[in-house]
Amino acid sequence: MAGKGSRCRYRRMSAELHAWREWIVGIPPIRFKKKKGAAPAVALSSGHRMPAVGLGVCRMEKPAIRGLIHSALRIGYRHLECAADYQNEAEVGDALAEAFQTRLVKREDLFITTKLWNSDHGHVMEACKDSLKKLRIDYLDLYLVHFPVATRHTGVGTTSSALGDDGVLDIDTTISLETTWHAMEELVSMGLVRSIGISNYDIFLTRDCLAYAKIKPAVNQIETHPYFQRDSLVKFCQKHGICVTAHTPFPLGGSTANTEWFGSVSCLDDPVIKSLAEKYGKTPAQLVLRWGLQRNTVVIPKTSKVERLQENFEVFNFEISGEDMEKIKIQDHRQELPN
Ligand SMILES: NC(=O)c1ccc[n+]([C@@H]2O[C@H](COP(=O)([O-])OP(=O)(O)OC[C@H]3O[C@@H](n4cnc5c(N)ncnc54)[C@H](OP(=O)(O)O)[C@@H]3O)[C@@H](O)[C@H]2O)c1
Repeated sequence: MAGKGSRCRYRRMSAELHAWREWIVGIPPIRFKKKKGAAPAVALSSGHRMPAVGLGVCRMEKPAIRGLIHSALRIGYRHLECAADYQNEAEVGDALAEAFQTRLVKREDLFITTKLWNSDHGHVMEACKDSLKKLRIDYLDLYLVHFPVATRHTGVGTTSSALGDDGVLDIDTTISLETTWHAMEELVSMGLVRSIGISNYDIFLTRDCLAYAKIKPAVNQIETHPYFQRDSLVKFCQKHGICVTAHTPFPLGGSTANTEWFGSVSCLDDPVIKSLAEKYGKTPAQLVLRWGLQRNTVVIPKTSKVERLQENFEVFNFEISGEDMEKIKIQDHRQELPN
């Protein structure tokens, strides 16, 4: 589903919505609070707290997961960002079980997110239980609808996005997003999930979700970074008490998939980002993550390198000035320009 076409569509829609900026004003900033000895966190509308920096595990090689997760926990990460579609929940679960057993960390100190895949919209309960079983935990801190589309069911946990005979994605038109959302709400009543949210929802779908939700989405996880800022969507969510989590915070930061999708340059190589990073004595990655935090978004960078785990977590000890935030703001959509 996360193919080139759908991503480009999100981008086009976001560009159109930039015109809405004017009327979305006065958003109160989310405060990143730090309990003694804990990672800074944001308060969600559900009443629970989500650490402001999480570790994304998408495309993490299975054999490396145990070592990476344990290193991350030692560094201070308390937020793990998973999905059924990443096909590595079982390896994450083994790493977690060992971390709890060896008292590296307690379950109650962790914030664990996973996501419902498109082909499981008609099987929310079974899919959630399957993820819990693989992750070897008895509740999720956050369960997200991965994409606002239901595709043909291919068996719980298989996370295929089946193509029809015509080569077109086999979308199940019998399940509405509202039906899916009410099934998500049921998980909260059952105590299987503490907070529920959405992912890759634009303003219109988010607005609809707010209208039909009995439990409001606590989070909208969307792609946003200096080259794709989506200010209107971010501010719309924040205005309505939905925390925005920024996935893919370093577009093309060595990520082959994104390079293939967009064939464009990384904002980590952007001359403005690089010169600001130098000014603050930080790396471009740290500057980009800090920029995300100062926009009141939660960031979930993925790395398979231990030294980068440390680097990506050291983003709480400096502040980008308002003037420099403006310099980054005008880099929006730069990746679309020929370099
Ligand atoms: N909801 C959704 O639809 C959705 C979509 C995409 C992603 N996500 C979530 O967001 C997480 C992050 O997104 P992502 O993995 O696509 O991309 P990302 O975190 O923006 O970028 C990851 C890439 O950046 C490199 N990198 C990491 N730290 C770096 C640093 N300090 N300096 C330079 N390069 C660095 C990594 O390489 P190395 O591994 O070699 O360090 C990797 O190639 C995912 O793991 C997933 O949990 C969600």
